[in-house]
Amino acid sequence: MRGKRPSLPGTPGLDANDVEAMIRVDHAGEFGALRIYEGQLAILSRSPRASAGTEAIKRMAEQERTHFDALDKLVKDRAVRPTALEPVWHLAGFALGAATALMGEKAAMACTVAVEDVIDEHYAHQIERLGDSDPELKKALVKFHQDECEHRDEALEHGAAEAPGYELLTSAIRLSCRIAISLSERL
Ligand SMILES: [Fe+2]
Ligand SMILES: [Fe+2]
Repeated sequence: MRGKRPSLPGTPGLDANDVEAMIRVDHAGEFGALRIYEGQLAILSRSPRASAGTEAIKRMAEQERTHFDALDKLVKDRAVRPTALEPVWHLAGFALGAATALMGEKAAMACTVAVEDVIDEHYAHQIERLGDSDPELKKALVKFHQDECEHRDEALEHGAAEAPGYELLTSAIRLSCRIAISLSERL
């Protein structure tokens, strides 16, 4: 564990380690999001006719890919250590996506609502913490935050709230996401 580094200009209390932890967890989270959609599409693409919901999931997955690529570039450019939990998120993300899709398209959409609820809070908090200290990262996060909120809206439009067991399902997924975030910041 490294010691406290000097605060970044313009943002008292935020140092370079904090920004690295932000990039690490966001990189992990966008990877996890991509894996969730890949898991969902592996199941939903088996049906002979793609529904409007499946098409929406494909578009969301493409956006998650652009988010992940941008964070992957930041990880490389700034030599940030990626999370050691990548193999876990590789499997857990895909499994969550596949399991919700097996419960039906509305449950798959409910999964997006739950994940994006947590990500909405998470990005809003990071954007506030960054203040004026890292315009490059902040600009990226503001864009991703907006996209994630749109994913949630779109999932709701596709009937997420009508999924069987919606409250229980989304609470469980929100809790898992919060645990994943706090682990990936540190490990
Ligand atoms: Fe994303
Ligand atoms: Fe998203």
